[in-house]
Amino acid sequence: MQYKDMTWTKALCGAGIGERALRSEHGLCADVAMLRCCSGNAKMLEKIHDALWIAEGKIVNFYGFPYPTRCVIAQLANGDLWVWSPVALDEVLQGEMDKLGPVRHLVSPNKIHHLYLQDWKVAYPQAQLWGPRSTITKRPDLAFREPLEDVAPAEWGGDIEQAWFRGSFAMDEVVFFHGPSRTVIVADLIEALTDTFLRQHWSWWGRLLARLDGIVADKALAPAEWRLSFLNRKPARAARAKMLDWPCERVIMAHGDWCRSEGHAFLVRSFGWLGA
Ligand SMILES: [Fe+2]
Repeated sequence: MQYKDMTWTKALCGAGIGERALRSEHGLCADVAMLRCCSGNAKMLEKIHDALWIAEGKIVNFYGFPYPTRCVIAQLANGDLWVWSPVALDEVLQGEMDKLGPVRHLVSPNKIHHLYLQDWKVAYPQAQLWGPRSTITKRPDLAFREPLEDVAPAEWGGDIEQAWFRGSFAMDEVVFFHGPSRTVIVADLIEALTDTFLRQHWSWWGRLLARLDGIVADKALAPAEWRLSFLNRKPARAARAKMLDWPCERVIMAHGDWCRSEGHAFLVRSFGWLGA
């Protein structure tokens, strides 16, 4: 479903999962206009494992709520680079990427992490675009491969598994597991903004909202309104069961403080809201 209700969209935006959601309401230009990069340049890649890196993106500001952004880069066994939730691409990041290998896959795990796909596609025209059907529907201007669902495509299935969280009337998300590094990769299903970040960038009442929403580091949850929108929890519970079978050591998220050890326990806590 397209979630076009403005009030709902604003609520998600305020909670940190909808910074790009108005694209479906007003189109690409309005979306970009509302997103304002407020500070910083993309940093160098940080190596997490022999075949896994992260890149911290610019802080984005939406309706007065700034968010840190992060993307993940995996190198598949054949050398191809798989880029998850691409952040703003600048010369520094592109130079680092070019040292690693050929960018072959650009992945938007849900329909609000697609903002920079086009920029990356221009820089790497040989790359293929991937996302769940909700992303593909939202970006008819881009040519995607077949929709991502619960089974990884052959292109990365030997290195990366995936689980499709759905059952929300607002949004679905595909969660990934990079086997060689035992890393689960989550976009908005877990958000963990640090107290330091919030004090630097959010007002006192914004910090209160963030805490109530569950997107602070000591809670590390999906935003409350998104959790509530999972009216059908059966498929999401099935996805969680699949995810919890992965031998996870770390969990990397798009927004906030990621989990460097004991990832499995972290996932159990962060997805406890789904119930038994
Ligand atoms: Fe997000």
